[in-house]
Amino acid sequence: MELESPIFLTETHQKRMRILSIETSCDETAAAILEDGRQVLASVVASQTPVHKAYQGVVPEIASRCHIEYMLPVVAEALRVAGCEPDGSDLDAVAVTRGPGLVGSLLVGVETAKTLAWRWRKPLIAVHHTVGHLMSVFCELPEGRSRFLEVPPDDSEPASTEWGEQDREAQHGRTEQAPVARGNRSAAPAVFDFPFLGLAISGGHSSLVRVEGPTEMRLLGSTLDDAPGEAYDKVAKVLGLGYPGGPEVDRRAALGNPEAFDLPRPILHAHGYDFSFSGLKTAVVREIEERGGLRLFHEDENLLNDLCASFQAAVIDVLLRKSLRALRDEKLHRLAVVGGVACNRGLRKEAARRLKGTHLLFPAPALCTDNAAMIGAAAVHIEPLSRDAALRLDARAGWELGQV
Ligand code: KG4
Ligand code: ZN
Repeated sequence: MELESPIFLTETHQKRMRILSIETSCDETAAAILEDGRQVLASVVASQTPVHKAYQGVVPEIASRCHIEYMLPVVAEALRVAGCEPDGSDLDAVAVTRGPGLVGSLLVGVETAKTLAWRWRKPLIAVHHTVGHLMSVFCELPEGRSRFLEVPPDDSEPASTEWGEQDREAQHGRTEQAPVARGNRSAAPAVFDFPFLGLAISGGHSSLVRVEGPTEMRLLGSTLDDAPGEAYDKVAKVLGLGYPGGPEVDRRAALGNPEAFDLPRPILHAHGYDFSFSGLKTAVVREIEERGGLRLFHEDENLLNDLCASFQAAVIDVLLRKSLRALRDEKLHRLAVVGGVACNRGLRKEAARRLKGTHLLFPAPALCTDNAAMIGAAAVHIEPLSRDAALRLDARAGWELGQV
């Protein structure tokens, strides 16, 4: 599949471009300012994780309400950190995630971006969320440019604007770093290039994509049921490990024996490059039931860690073996793993071990989980909407990569 929009900017034009980008597809309210599509001048994220924790998953109505509350403070903070005027006069364009995602969440970002672009008389650019994740590999995020806050769970509290430096490692457990991305900085731009195989894995999606260029991508495979992050979250819920499940299962997996439980590798040798993870969750449930329920696992920490390690080993095995096959079939030598699950410590370690000879890139954790910097990195290559189309822009909750 080729993306409809050709690269419309000359390289010199791109170098001067300053884009304000907005991302609200799920439960992070994010805004960023990028120069030349790579240099992140500011990346600001308000995460609603503490709000949804009580429900062990994202509640769409609450997510929309939080986005409304935090959208403008997040944009204001991005402009401030980037040293831009609050009237938008330093900007060349506004970009926004159009989909896929929760429609009520997407709408907050889309309407905000439309309003700002109209008021500031700037072009508006609509971006596909997964294309953003894939382009995150080109973001350069210097120390001191990210801001992060957790939205307080209590409704009665006024909007908190106690910004901190984004430190995903602290929130999601320490991550084993892949060769070219350290800490919250990403040194990717100088060393990574097209074409590459993109493995985009998160709570909402899992896609294997041949990325020929910023607007030329071919979807090779995707999940037939649950996304890997969703499987992590569901398994964690079953095990009583809280939400989101990925970081905690990852932490425990490092302490357990990955061979203790014999779990399946769903559709490893079938369905081409597609994935399936829901059967794996069912297999975990069966292991628990066979031992008479959760009590034993909560009494014996080692048993719990072993189950986490065995589940994680199965996920990693399927992801890496399908990626290796795609690399070989597509004659590609570069693999970028992006999206929230790319924070996974076991996956980073195992990928480095199994993919020797492949140029492997995991973006810094702050660029893996949902953020707006990646939306700016994609937007610089996409043709802006006409003024009419910009005013009519809608959210596309079910936008598939193949329809971009
Ligand atoms: O990309 P992201 O922030 O949002 C979506 O677009 O879904 O990804 C969030 C997902 C959650 O399911 C979370 O459990 C998972 O990423 N995640 C992890 C880890 N950190 C976050 N999964 C496995 N291991 C991790 N360390
Ligand atoms: Zn995402």
